Amino acid sequence: MNNNLANIKKSIFFLNKNECVAIPTETVYGLAANAYSSKSVKKIYSLKKRPRNNPSIVHYSNLNQLKKDCEINKNFLILYKKFCPGPITFVLKLKKKSRISRIVTNNKKTVAVRFPKNKLTQKLLKLLKYPLAAPSANISTKISPVSKDDVKEEFGNKIKFILDGGRSKIGLESTIISLVDKPRILRLGGIERTKINKVLNKNIKYDRINKKITVPGQSKLHYSPGIPIKLNTLKPKSNEAFILIKKRKKSYKNYYYLSKTKNLKQAAKNLYKILRMIKNKNYKSIVVERIPNIGFGEVINERLKRASAK
Ligand code: TXA
Ligand code: MG
Repeated sequence: MNNNLANIKKSIFFLNKNECVAIPTETVYGLAANAYSSKSVKKIYSLKKRPRNNPSIVHYSNLNQLKKDCEINKNFLILYKKFCPGPITFVLKLKKKSRISRIVTNNKKTVAVRFPKNKLTQKLLKLLKYPLAAPSANISTKISPVSKDDVKEEFGNKIKFILDGGRSKIGLESTIISLVDKPRILRLGGIERTKINKVLNKNIKYDRINKKITVPGQSKLHYSPGIPIKLNTLKPKSNEAFILIKKRKKSYKNYYYLSKTKNLKQAAKNLYKILRMIKNKNYKSIVVERIPNIGFGEVINERLKRASAK
């Protein structure tokens, strides 16, 4: 714990100097900077090579802190009470007097906010005088990192510090829900759709890619290992990596298992880890066996489709 505290203090030191620090969250690691400082936030965009028109998520320690920057409403409070801290991001109206940098919001009147559930990051946020803007800590369009080593692989020593909080428990990004007008899911993620529907007692619409592009990051190639991916495949060729949902009796070197027993939550947790492993070998392409399109299976399929977009 002492070591953790020292590392949190080190993170504060760099963040206060307008530098970026990689932080652990339950979903994926984020590349964080002071959300109130344009100077700091610009560094995130240049390190990630992220287009400026793609706004970032702001991470808060508590509700009072959040209320200074955005308008909350009834649906927000219901979901907040049920799922926070946790893998859900809310798009809310920005308050006029909000101090959030316009780089974070891309000059919009809305902002995406969340309360991460990782002990070290929670402690860090509590000690800071500002919230943290943090997109996933990967080069734009590449695979999101779920451990300190993954972040290192993405940025080498280009970032000042990585706060090591172990492996991310959920392993893929938060669910994004817009509460600006009628609730709409903008990105599938760490909280299953059915759970949100149940709590709000209605069927929340999910605006799929290509319909109306509300989330810029949803428009094109994302989460990509850099080689073609084909879904719903029965059998691989020998130079293809084969991703399976459940362990087989007869296995081969190019077989990669998302879970032992077709556990979709487990599979979601392992997805980026396995994509990254495969990326670092010499395969020509990736083929994936059919994954049931329910619960976390739906999220996995959606990520795989985008990772394979041309
Ligand atoms: O789990 C997560 O959400 C992780 C961790 C680090 O918190 N973060 C993450 O950030 O996935 P990023 O930047 O990779 O994805 C954020 C998404 C982007 O697709 C962005 O377009 C969308 O959130 N977004 C941000 N602000 C928005 C806004 N005002 N309206 C609509 N979408 C927004
Ligand atoms: Mg990302």
